[in-house]
Amino acid sequence: MCGVVGYIGKSYCRDYIIQGLSRLEYRGYDSSGIACIEPKDKKLVFLKSEGRLQNLIEKFNDFPINGFAGIGHTRWSTHGIVSQQNAHPQFDCQKTISIVHNGIIENHNDLRLKLESAGHIFNSTTDTEVIAHFLEDLLVLHKALMPALISLIKCLEGAYAFACLLQDFSDQIIVVRKRSPLCIGVGQDEMFIASDLLAFSGRTNKVLFLPDESFAIITKDLIQLFDFNGNALPIDIKEVITDSTLSQMGAYESYMLKEIYEQKSVINKCVTSFKASNIWDNLGVTPEFIKNLDTINLIACGTSWHAAKIAQFFFEKICLIPTRVFLASEFRYMPFFPETKSLYLAISQSGETADTLEALALVKSMGCASAVITNVASSSMVRQADGFLLTHAGPEIAVASTKSFTAQLTALYWLCNKMALEKSIITQKEMIASEEDLRLAAEILENCIENYKIKIITDLAIKYASYKHFIFLGRHISYPFALEAALKLKEISYIFSQCYAAGELKHGPIALIDSQTPVILFSCFDSVIYQKLVSNAQEVKSRNGHLIVFAFEGQTELIKLADTVFVIPQINPLLAPIAMTGLMQFFVYQIAKVLGRPIDRPRNLAKSVTVE
Ligand code: AGP
Repeated sequence: MCGVVGYIGKSYCRDYIIQGLSRLEYRGYDSSGIACIEPKDKKLVFLKSEGRLQNLIEKFNDFPINGFAGIGHTRWSTHGIVSQQNAHPQFDCQKTISIVHNGIIENHNDLRLKLESAGHIFNSTTDTEVIAHFLEDLLVLHKALMPALISLIKCLEGAYAFACLLQDFSDQIIVVRKRSPLCIGVGQDEMFIASDLLAFSGRTNKVLFLPDESFAIITKDLIQLFDFNGNALPIDIKEVITDSTLSQMGAYESYMLKEIYEQKSVINKCVTSFKASNIWDNLGVTPEFIKNLDTINLIACGTSWHAAKIAQFFFEKICLIPTRVFLASEFRYMPFFPETKSLYLAISQSGETADTLEALALVKSMGCASAVITNVASSSMVRQADGFLLTHAGPEIAVASTKSFTAQLTALYWLCNKMALEKSIITQKEMIASEEDLRLAAEILENCIENYKIKIITDLAIKYASYKHFIFLGRHISYPFALEAALKLKEISYIFSQCYAAGELKHGPIALIDSQTPVILFSCFDSVIYQKLVSNAQEVKSRNGHLIVFAFEGQTELIKLADTVFVIPQINPLLAPIAMTGLMQFFVYQIAKVLGRPIDRPRNLAKSVTVE
């Protein structure tokens, strides 16, 4: 993971580097650092700090380093504990070569042993440091930068992107990319380097996305791009639409709360833009291909996987297409039987998740039709897949996914209905009704928060913040929703939350039921499933369990069994997860707030998981 930035040009670099790092903190935030070339004596200087970026910023008061070329880093540790030593930049023995790096150098141990036996002294336990020491050796060996770089790159295994600033080549920055993303923003006599163009959004809209397995030597007004054998590559600069208003929290106390409240408008925006789109062209398929589809394969991680699990019900119920859902990290290592009449659909907010990206690459290499549902038009997955559907959730800054989840559900539900229309399973009138249903779900989502807001803040959140464990139960479509709810509670409150399919309770987990372990049960708006859930609720109550229920209006039996109940207006059963989402997120948010957690940036996490 980690965020990499760099600047070379006519201005001092520090402002951009700090702004870029703060925008890339979603990629990791356990430590940060900067290196730059002092303009006066052309020496490489650096500053690093453990913890949040603010700690680094405060250090500038005593060490105000700056320069016209610099690199910066925000870290999500993979190799080595969180410490100042392990923060990037990492250096060679002479401290004249600095490296900031995202990804993993898989053969770092072998390289380190060789370098150590050649006399190199290491200061960190990171894999990154080997790059600097190795380059130090290779520069001595080759006496020139280009052959040294080629030798270096050829020996590094893994998926990585790094930027390198050298004291002896102070008017250049070198960047290298293998699978992990990296791009260069092209300005007027200045170049911006970043893992994600979000970092330089508002400064330039001209971007070179480094091709996979390439490296570049960058000066303030020139980019030279090469493949890993040193052959020159063409420079394909794209103009992108960037949004510099992206990170405004406005009047909200946190990004997560803002993003919870944005969901109604996000759903409406999605529906409007999907209606106006040329969907099959965008997805890179033909109407005939859709008509003849035999199966759908959904691939995702985390919250996006939960959205996919919910969408399985959409595709199978509305479209009558058998649908399988894969965790991307598992999909890649399972036997692959390519299906020609299948759409392989990756789902990813960021479009950068390493496992999903690799799964997509596998699907493509097998010649199968691939598309991605993502929130980021400029993401690697959009470039990798045959087509894409953009979710229009807008930048999601809080680490815990909220609006991207509902936007994914909206996209999947709309797409499923569109497929059903193409296959003549539903009529145009039913298609329009499905869009209206989505808008209604958006309305309910927001109204439910408003209905329970005061009670949650003044009473329920305080009460439930004192519990140490929670059990989440769902059934049918509410089971993957319960999985998402449990994930939300654990990631932002650090309360242990275990989720089961309600029918599984009696097969073992029921041993955990006691008055100190609240059970949160999500109902379904389906009469058969509802009755089963009532039985599951009774099983909990008859063992002295404490029951919190999310039920629908009219589900009296279930409502009566609950110790705490949230009642939601009736809706199309398949859209119940969207209707419940706002309230569920608001409830767990307020619990985390009572506990004083850093909600937007929970410990150990990163927004975009760019390592496998
Ligand atoms: C959950 O709140 C997280 N944000 C996480 O589970 C996330 O959904 C997962 O890492 C996948 O990310 P993606 O959607 O960007 O691929």
